Amino acid sequence: MCGIVGYCGYRDCSDVLVEALTKLEYRGYDSAGIAVFEDGNIRVEKSQGRLDNLRNKMLSDGKPEGTTGIGHTRWATHGKPSDVNSHPHSGEKVAIVHNGIIENYKELKDLLIEKGQKFLSDTDTEVVAKLLGFYYKKSPMNPLETIKNTVARLEGSYALGIVFEDFPDMIYAARKESPLIVGVGKDEFFIASDVTAIINYTKDYYLIEHGEIVEISKDGVNIYDEHGDKKVKTLLTADWDAEAAKKGGYPHFMIKEIHEQPDSINTTIRPRISNGMPNLEECQITLDKIKDFKKIFIVACGTAMHAGMVGKYVIEKLARVPVVVDIASEFRYREPIVEEGDLVIIISQSGETADSLAALRLSKELGAKTLGIVNAKGSSIAREADMLIYTHAGPEIAVASTKAYIVQLSVMYLFAFELALAKGKITEEECCTLTQHLELTPSIIHRILSENLSMPQFVATKLAAADSLLYIGRGLDYALSMEGSLKLKEISYIHSEAYAAGELKHGTISLITDNMPVIAVATQEKLLEKTISNIKEVKARGAMVILVAREDFKIDHEAYDYLITVPKIDDVLMPIPAAVPLQLIAYYAAVQRGNDVDKPRNLAKSVTVE
Ligand code: M6R
Repeated sequence: MCGIVGYCGYRDCSDVLVEALTKLEYRGYDSAGIAVFEDGNIRVEKSQGRLDNLRNKMLSDGKPEGTTGIGHTRWATHGKPSDVNSHPHSGEKVAIVHNGIIENYKELKDLLIEKGQKFLSDTDTEVVAKLLGFYYKKSPMNPLETIKNTVARLEGSYALGIVFEDFPDMIYAARKESPLIVGVGKDEFFIASDVTAIINYTKDYYLIEHGEIVEISKDGVNIYDEHGDKKVKTLLTADWDAEAAKKGGYPHFMIKEIHEQPDSINTTIRPRISNGMPNLEECQITLDKIKDFKKIFIVACGTAMHAGMVGKYVIEKLARVPVVVDIASEFRYREPIVEEGDLVIIISQSGETADSLAALRLSKELGAKTLGIVNAKGSSIAREADMLIYTHAGPEIAVASTKAYIVQLSVMYLFAFELALAKGKITEEECCTLTQHLELTPSIIHRILSENLSMPQFVATKLAAADSLLYIGRGLDYALSMEGSLKLKEISYIHSEAYAAGELKHGTISLITDNMPVIAVATQEKLLEKTISNIKEVKARGAMVILVAREDFKIDHEAYDYLITVPKIDDVLMPIPAAVPLQLIAYYAAVQRGNDVDKPRNLAKSVTVE
């Protein structure tokens, strides 16, 4: 959940670290800090709160001057956000930054206290720093041995950036579970939680794997396995550039990313369509390979899980295969009845979400085949799934997911069409028509974004003062409402719930007053009449109704207060265009309320802890 970075080269290290941390702030923003070699000593600067606090602190204290160092941006787990709990943390002759959780930190801390160590913070990370110091004393001037001995004692997850006082031109790193890359530039090297952080300097990087230890000097990089043997690794190149990680004239990343959705869908689906039909062979998915799955689980968290909800409706409708959608944190502990012959689909933007990764591993243990739908290249889920479909959304910086969701949907559709064909539930002709409709979605979203911005913006002004609201819909509209509701609450901080419209009268309708706005989604022709009846029920009880509906539907004006129309496409595909006004409503409501849209409170983009 935190972001770590390190630099070893010829530039002003403080500047490089702070700039890189700006790109990692999406991973957490409870505090920030750096440790830089200055005149042969490690100088630490850190501060609670956003990176700007650290910047300001360094403006008044003067920034550390040097060319080698490490940095951190924190999402607090152990110990509240405070200066003292901020990273870097120090042990004897060592300073570290850490992303992950040390599960046995308490036991280690007690042992170290017994040996006379004093602790300043409440963090698990300081325990690692002190342990490093302890082992360094046992193996003086031997950082590699020290790191090996230390990590052997750690349980949990970590990506560590380490500097030793006696080695002022070097940085070290180690990884278990938490993501870590090494960036390779000309006469300069980096470590980082992801490539975004260093893309301004280089696109070339090594992906560090579990158990590996990294040693970086100005002259090069050495990577060792857990036994201390040197490894030769393949240098990878990021397939996007620094521009993709900038706001490009938009006020926030979120709105930029909403506008990028047509391109993201195109880039994701085009290579997977040939002769008008889905073709997932490059993802190791063939008709033959998938035709025998009798049961499917879709397991994910948050927005990715909501993409799975849409997937469930579509797969069940078209391929007639039962689908269970599970929240990953529930799935992994509920002893799921997953067996050989089942397919488990794990959806994840980051590919590093701890619960989703654990669900993947559990599914494999239980004998199921796994399919990862992942955005981050080379991430853990991408590497461990049996089959893999990359979504090509590019870097998603805003914490609230938009373009990653839309491409997750587009991939769910391609897979559902392919499965339905494999199962003989649709003809090639039907499959071709559905695929054509999917190919139309980018231009439809484009149309919404060029013609229909004002209504969501206006509606957001009507919602900005609300304390709570409901999203309602039936079938696919209900699945989509879940995502609409999450988007609104996570960035506007307005409480909201998504309800199956037909379920309201079983209790929740008692909440309806003129203080409870309702956003109703009605894009499904077969369900329209029923949904409209439900909408009228809330309208009759005083709710202000904002209706998001297919533009060709004839709907009684009395059923709603404000109408947002969505261009028509095959009903089964309507969640793709209809998602856009819901994203926009959430975005504009958050802007209206003056919130930090891209970095909502208490959140982090990549949830690599349970
Ligand atoms: O990286 P992942 O897709 O696995 O992340 C899952 C959720 O944490 C994520 O979708 C989260 O719900 C977003 N903040 C929603 O906008």
